[in-house]
Amino acid sequence: MKQLHEFEIKKMLRLADEARERAYAPYSGFRVGACLKTESGAYYLGCNIENAAFTPTCCAERTALFKAVYEGERDFEAIAIISDSLNPTAPCGVCRQALAEFCKPDMPVICADRDGVYVVRALSELLPMAFTSKDMEG
Ligand code: THU
Repeated sequence: MKQLHEFEIKKMLRLADEARERAYAPYSGFRVGACLKTESGAYYLGCNIENAAFTPTCCAERTALFKAVYEGERDFEAIAIISDSLNPTAPCGVCRQALAEFCKPDMPVICADRDGVYVVRALSELLPMAFTSKDMEG
């Protein structure tokens, strides 16, 4: 896994924390922010966006990822996630799969609690044997 400088991790968590402020979470009351950094050094931010029908809810990680992909980004360096929780927040299963479509298995995923205490895991640790386009090759 690529090593990130402490100051870079702190910067990404600060940006993710700002994104958390934009959460639309009237149902759970649980706010999440994400900061996805591209290989070129750009930052894409996302928050969770809930829905009265619940299922259409989009997590912070996918909001950030889809914003970036829409803008043409395809190469990602790391993602940082921060929430209202006392425990470090890791991406849900759906977001792990969405990230695996575009991000390398060794991409660092920075998971922080509300105070910014974090753990870092490679994406492949969070989603071993991810299903990808290779799995559809004949
Ligand atoms: N949520 C995220 O945005 N990211 C995660 O990694 C975990 C869950 C959101 C979805 C929902 O709006 C709320 O947190 C409670 O599950």
